[in-house]
Amino acid sequence: MLNVKRISHATFETADLERQTDYHVNVLGLSVAARDKNAVFFKTGTGIPSLTIEKGSAAACRRIAFQVAPGSDMGELQKQLQAGGIVAERRSDSMPGIGNMITFDDPKGTAIDIFAEEEYAPADMTPKGIVPLKLGHLAFKVQDIRQIVAFYQDVLGFRVSDWRQDFFVFMRCGPDHHTVNFATAEKVKMHHIAYQLRDTAEMTRACDFLGRHKFQIIWGPGRHVIGDNVFTYHKDPDGHIIELYCELAQIDSEDLGHFNPRPWRFDIPYKPTIWGPDTLGNLWGPPAPQGFGS
Ligand SMILES: [Fe+2]
Repeated sequence: MLNVKRISHATFETADLERQTDYHVNVLGLSVAARDKNAVFFKTGTGIPSLTIEKGSAAACRRIAFQVAPGSDMGELQKQLQAGGIVAERRSDSMPGIGNMITFDDPKGTAIDIFAEEEYAPADMTPKGIVPLKLGHLAFKVQDIRQIVAFYQDVLGFRVSDWRQDFFVFMRCGPDHHTVNFATAEKVKMHHIAYQLRDTAEMTRACDFLGRHKFQIIWGPGRHVIGDNVFTYHKDPDGHIIELYCELAQIDSEDLGHFNPRPWRFDIPYKPTIWGPDTLGNLWGPPAPQGFGS
Protein backbone atom coordinates (compact mmCIF):
# COMPACT_ATOMS: atom_id res chain seq x y z
CA MET A 1 0.00 0.00 0.00
CA LEU A 2 1.13 3.53 -0.72
CA ASN A 3 1.01 6.16 1.98
CA VAL A 4 -0.13 9.35 0.29
CA LYS A 5 0.79 12.44 2.33
CA ARG A 6 -0.87 15.28 0.44
CA ILE A 7 -2.61 16.31 -2.75
CA SER A 8 -0.39 18.22 -5.12
CA HIS A 9 -2.33 19.17 -8.23
CA ALA A 10 -5.15 18.21 -10.56
CA THR A 11 -5.05 18.12 -14.35
CA PHE A 12 -8.05 19.42 -16.28
CA GLU A 13 -8.78 19.19 -19.96
CA THR A 14 -10.43 22.11 -21.76
CA ALA A 15 -11.58 23.05 -25.24
CA ASP A 16 -10.70 26.70 -24.51
CA LEU A 17 -7.29 26.98 -22.90
CA GLU A 18 -7.07 30.77 -23.17
CA ARG A 19 -10.44 31.37 -21.48
CA GLN A 20 -9.60 28.95 -18.66
CA THR A 21 -6.16 30.52 -18.25
CA ASP A 22 -7.67 33.99 -18.03
CA TYR A 23 -10.08 32.87 -15.26
CA HIS A 24 -7.44 30.99 -13.25
CA VAL A 25 -4.99 33.89 -13.36
CA ASN A 26 -7.23 36.95 -13.16
CA VAL A 27 -10.15 35.67 -11.09
CA LEU A 28 -8.90 32.72 -9.00
CA GLY A 29 -5.48 34.36 -8.72
CA LEU A 30 -3.18 31.44 -9.50
CA SER A 31 0.14 32.14 -11.22
CA VAL A 32 1.50 30.57 -14.36
CA ALA A 33 4.55 28.49 -13.44
CA ALA A 34 5.18 27.34 -17.01
CA ARG A 35 3.35 26.81 -20.27
CA ASP A 36 3.76 25.09 -23.59
CA LYS A 37 1.52 25.08 -26.63
CA ASN A 38 -0.81 22.43 -25.20
CA ALA A 39 -0.82 23.09 -21.46
CA VAL A 40 -0.56 25.71 -18.74
CA PHE A 41 0.92 24.77 -15.35
CA PHE A 42 -0.44 26.84 -12.45
CA LYS A 43 0.98 27.43 -9.00
CA THR A 44 -0.37 29.28 -5.98
CA GLY A 45 1.11 32.61 -4.95
CA THR A 46 3.39 30.75 -2.56
CA GLY A 47 4.80 28.72 -5.47
CA ILE A 48 3.06 25.37 -4.88
CA PRO A 49 1.83 23.54 -8.00
CA SER A 50 -1.97 23.35 -7.93
CA LEU A 51 -3.42 22.78 -11.38
CA THR A 52 -2.49 21.86 -14.93
CA ILE A 53 -4.89 22.65 -17.75
CA GLU A 54 -4.39 20.88 -21.07
CA LYS A 55 -5.95 21.46 -24.45
CA GLY A 56 -8.52 18.80 -25.32
CA SER A 57 -12.03 18.26 -26.51
CA ALA A 58 -13.97 18.22 -23.23
CA ALA A 59 -14.13 20.04 -19.89
CA ALA A 60 -13.09 17.35 -17.42
CA CYS A 61 -10.69 16.41 -14.65
CA ARG A 62 -8.31 13.81 -16.05
CA ARG A 63 -5.60 13.36 -13.42
CA ILE A 64 -4.80 13.96 -9.73
CA ALA A 65 -1.26 14.03 -8.38
CA PHE A 66 -0.43 13.00 -4.82
CA GLN A 67 2.86 13.21 -2.96
CA VAL A 68 4.29 10.34 -0.91
CA ALA A 69 7.15 10.69 1.58
CA PRO A 70 10.29 12.31 0.15
CA GLY A 71 12.89 9.62 -0.49
CA SER A 72 10.33 7.00 -1.54
CA ASP A 73 11.61 4.76 -4.33
CA MET A 74 9.27 4.95 -7.32
CA GLY A 75 10.49 1.58 -8.66
CA GLU A 76 9.72 -0.04 -5.32
CA LEU A 77 6.25 1.48 -5.19
CA GLN A 78 5.65 0.34 -8.76
CA LYS A 79 6.54 -3.23 -7.69
CA GLN A 80 4.23 -3.05 -4.67
CA LEU A 81 1.36 -1.94 -6.87
CA GLN A 82 2.14 -4.67 -9.40
CA ALA A 83 1.99 -7.25 -6.59
CA GLY A 84 -1.51 -5.98 -5.83
CA GLY A 85 -2.55 -6.32 -9.47
CA ILE A 86 -2.19 -2.63 -10.40
CA VAL A 87 -0.11 -1.77 -13.43
CA ALA A 88 1.66 1.53 -12.92
CA GLU A 89 3.76 3.27 -15.56
CA ARG A 90 6.73 5.53 -15.01
CA ARG A 91 6.48 9.19 -16.11
CA SER A 92 9.22 11.75 -16.01
CA ASP A 93 9.38 15.46 -16.72
CA SER A 94 5.65 15.66 -17.42
CA MET A 95 5.33 18.52 -14.95
CA PRO A 96 7.79 21.33 -14.21
CA GLY A 97 9.46 20.71 -10.85
CA ILE A 98 8.52 17.04 -10.65
CA GLY A 99 10.90 14.52 -12.18
CA ASN A 100 9.82 10.99 -11.38
CA MET A 101 6.24 9.85 -11.14
CA ILE A 102 4.33 6.62 -11.38
CA THR A 103 0.84 6.68 -12.81
CA PHE A 104 -2.16 4.36 -12.80
CA ASP A 105 -5.93 4.70 -12.99
CA ASP A 106 -8.31 4.71 -10.05
CA PRO A 107 -11.54 2.67 -10.42
CA LYS A 108 -13.50 5.59 -11.90
CA GLY A 109 -10.87 6.15 -14.61
CA THR A 110 -9.01 9.19 -13.23
CA ALA A 111 -5.25 8.90 -13.66
CA ILE A 112 -3.41 8.99 -10.33
CA ASP A 113 0.11 10.42 -10.44
CA ILE A 114 2.37 9.61 -7.50
CA PHE A 115 5.66 11.35 -6.79
CA ALA A 116 8.03 11.86 -3.88
CA GLU A 117 10.07 14.95 -4.70
CA GLU A 118 9.14 18.28 -6.18
CA GLU A 119 10.77 21.67 -6.51
CA TYR A 120 8.56 24.62 -5.72
CA ALA A 121 8.44 27.51 -8.13
CA PRO A 122 9.37 30.98 -6.86
CA ALA A 123 6.62 32.72 -4.90
CA ASP A 124 4.58 35.36 -6.69
CA MET A 125 2.52 37.35 -4.20
CA THR A 126 1.46 40.05 -6.69
CA PRO A 127 -2.10 40.89 -5.63
CA LYS A 128 -4.54 39.70 -8.28
CA GLY A 129 -7.89 37.97 -7.97
CA ILE A 130 -8.75 35.66 -5.09
CA VAL A 131 -5.29 34.09 -4.49
CA PRO A 132 -6.01 30.83 -2.62
CA LEU A 133 -3.47 29.32 -0.24
CA LYS A 134 -3.58 25.84 -1.74
CA LEU A 135 -5.56 23.23 -3.62
CA GLY A 136 -7.52 21.44 -0.88
CA HIS A 137 -9.73 18.70 -2.26
CA LEU A 138 -11.65 17.24 -5.16
CA ALA A 139 -15.16 15.81 -5.05
CA PHE A 140 -16.44 13.17 -7.47
CA LYS A 141 -19.63 11.37 -8.39
CA VAL A 142 -19.05 7.63 -8.66
CA GLN A 143 -21.19 4.58 -9.38
CA ASP A 144 -19.64 2.14 -6.88
CA ILE A 145 -18.73 4.06 -3.73
CA ARG A 146 -17.59 0.97 -1.76
CA GLN A 147 -15.15 0.08 -4.54
CA ILE A 148 -13.63 3.57 -4.60
CA VAL A 149 -13.39 3.78 -0.79
CA ALA A 150 -11.58 0.42 -0.75
CA PHE A 151 -9.17 1.63 -3.44
CA TYR A 152 -8.35 4.94 -1.73
CA GLN A 153 -7.92 3.15 1.62
CA ASP A 154 -6.09 0.02 0.55
CA VAL A 155 -4.02 1.29 -2.38
CA LEU A 156 -3.39 4.96 -1.54
CA GLY A 157 -3.55 4.90 2.28
CA PHE A 158 -6.48 7.30 2.83
CA ARG A 159 -8.68 7.16 5.94
CA VAL A 160 -12.45 7.71 6.17
CA SER A 161 -13.33 10.91 8.05
CA ASP A 162 -17.13 10.88 7.77
CA TRP A 163 -20.01 9.24 5.96
CA ARG A 164 -23.36 10.81 5.16
CA GLN A 165 -25.53 7.68 5.42
CA ASP A 166 -24.06 5.23 2.88
CA PHE A 167 -23.87 7.40 -0.24
CA PHE A 168 -21.43 10.22 0.53
CA VAL A 169 -17.95 9.79 2.01
CA PHE A 170 -15.14 12.16 3.04
CA MET A 171 -11.56 10.82 3.07
CA ARG A 172 -8.27 12.25 4.35
CA CYS A 173 -4.59 11.63 3.71
CA GLY A 174 -3.25 14.16 6.23
CA PRO A 175 -4.59 16.52 8.90
CA ASP A 176 -7.28 18.05 6.64
CA HIS A 177 -10.74 16.51 7.21
CA HIS A 178 -10.99 15.63 3.52
CA THR A 179 -8.75 15.64 0.47
CA VAL A 180 -11.21 13.65 -1.66
CA ASN A 181 -14.90 13.01 -1.32
CA PHE A 182 -17.21 10.74 -3.26
CA ALA A 183 -20.97 10.56 -3.68
CA THR A 184 -23.01 7.87 -5.37
CA ALA A 185 -24.52 8.76 -8.74
CA GLU A 186 -25.33 7.13 -12.05
CA LYS A 187 -22.90 9.26 -14.04
CA VAL A 188 -19.22 9.45 -13.09
CA LYS A 189 -17.87 13.01 -13.03
CA MET A 190 -15.96 15.54 -10.96
CA HIS A 191 -18.42 17.48 -8.82
CA HIS A 192 -16.13 20.28 -7.60
CA ILE A 193 -12.57 21.33 -6.91
CA ALA A 194 -11.82 23.23 -3.71
CA TYR A 195 -9.18 25.81 -2.82
CA GLN A 196 -8.33 26.90 0.70
CA LEU A 197 -8.40 30.56 1.64
CA ARG A 198 -6.50 31.86 4.66
CA ASP A 199 -9.47 32.95 6.76
CA THR A 200 -12.99 34.36 6.72
CA ALA A 201 -11.67 37.86 5.98
CA GLU A 202 -10.23 36.44 2.74
CA MET A 203 -13.59 34.75 2.10
CA THR A 204 -15.36 38.12 2.35
CA ARG A 205 -12.79 39.66 0.02
CA ALA A 206 -13.25 36.75 -2.44
CA CYS A 207 -17.07 37.14 -2.39
CA ASP A 208 -16.74 40.88 -3.05
CA PHE A 209 -14.28 40.18 -5.87
CA LEU A 210 -16.57 37.57 -7.47
CA GLY A 211 -19.54 39.92 -7.19
CA ARG A 212 -17.70 42.82 -8.77
CA HIS A 213 -16.59 40.57 -11.65
CA LYS A 214 -20.08 39.14 -12.17
CA PHE A 215 -19.32 35.59 -11.07
CA GLN A 216 -22.45 34.36 -9.35
CA ILE A 217 -22.00 32.57 -6.02
CA ILE A 218 -24.22 29.52 -6.47
CA TRP A 219 -24.15 28.40 -2.80
CA GLY A 220 -22.91 30.16 0.30
CA PRO A 221 -21.35 31.71 2.16
CA GLY A 222 -22.21 29.14 4.80
CA ARG A 223 -20.62 26.68 7.18
CA HIS A 224 -20.86 22.96 6.45
CA VAL A 225 -21.85 20.57 9.23
CA ILE A 226 -19.61 17.74 7.92
CA GLY A 227 -16.04 19.06 7.81
CA ASP A 228 -16.94 22.36 9.53
CA ASN A 229 -15.58 24.53 6.73
CA VAL A 230 -16.89 27.94 5.76
CA PHE A 231 -17.67 27.66 2.04
CA THR A 232 -18.79 29.33 -1.15
CA TYR A 233 -19.20 27.79 -4.59
CA HIS A 234 -19.12 29.42 -8.02
CA LYS A 235 -18.41 28.14 -11.55
CA ASP A 236 -15.41 28.64 -13.78
CA PRO A 237 -15.96 29.41 -17.50
CA ASP A 238 -15.92 25.68 -18.33
CA GLY A 239 -18.75 25.10 -15.84
CA HIS A 240 -16.64 23.36 -13.18
CA ILE A 241 -17.85 24.12 -9.66
CA ILE A 242 -15.10 25.89 -7.70
CA GLU A 243 -15.34 25.79 -3.92
CA LEU A 244 -13.49 28.31 -1.78
CA TYR A 245 -13.23 27.30 1.87
CA CYS A 246 -11.51 27.99 5.17
CA GLU A 247 -11.60 26.63 8.75
CA LEU A 248 -11.80 22.98 7.62
CA ALA A 249 -11.71 20.49 10.54
CA GLN A 250 -8.26 19.13 11.32
CA ILE A 251 -7.08 15.85 12.79
CA ASP A 252 -3.72 16.36 14.48
CA SER A 253 -3.10 12.80 15.59
CA GLU A 254 -4.17 9.67 13.75
CA ASP A 255 -3.35 7.76 16.96
CA LEU A 256 -5.89 9.76 18.95
CA GLY A 257 -8.32 9.60 16.02
CA HIS A 258 -10.37 12.71 16.70
CA PHE A 259 -10.67 16.15 15.22
CA ASN A 260 -9.68 19.36 16.94
CA PRO A 261 -12.38 20.81 19.19
CA ARG A 262 -14.76 23.28 17.57
CA PRO A 263 -16.87 25.85 19.43
CA TRP A 264 -20.14 24.77 17.77
CA ARG A 265 -19.62 21.02 18.35
CA PHE A 266 -20.99 19.32 21.44
CA ASP A 267 -19.62 15.83 20.76
CA ILE A 268 -16.19 16.03 22.42
CA PRO A 269 -13.98 14.37 21.42
CA TYR A 270 -15.32 14.90 17.93
CA LYS A 271 -14.73 11.71 15.93
CA PRO A 272 -15.50 10.31 12.48
CA THR A 273 -19.26 9.79 12.25
CA ILE A 274 -21.92 8.22 10.06
CA TRP A 275 -24.34 11.12 9.68
CA GLY A 276 -28.07 10.45 9.46
CA PRO A 277 -30.63 11.48 6.85
CA ASP A 278 -31.69 14.61 8.76
CA THR A 279 -28.18 16.11 8.83
CA LEU A 280 -28.25 19.59 7.33
CA GLY A 281 -25.82 20.48 4.56
CA ASN A 282 -24.79 23.56 6.47
CA LEU A 283 -24.94 24.87 10.02
CA TRP A 284 -25.76 28.38 8.78
CA GLY A 285 -26.15 30.11 5.45
CA PRO A 286 -28.64 29.39 2.68
CA PRO A 287 -29.60 25.81 1.80
CA ALA A 288 -28.07 24.21 -1.30
CA PRO A 289 -29.78 25.28 -4.50
CA GLN A 290 -31.88 22.69 -6.28
CA GLY A 291 -29.75 20.26 -8.27
CA PHE A 292 -26.46 21.26 -6.59
CA GLY A 293 -25.65 17.71 -5.53
CA SER A 294 -26.45 16.11 -8.87
FE1 LIG B 1 -15.90 20.45 -1.01
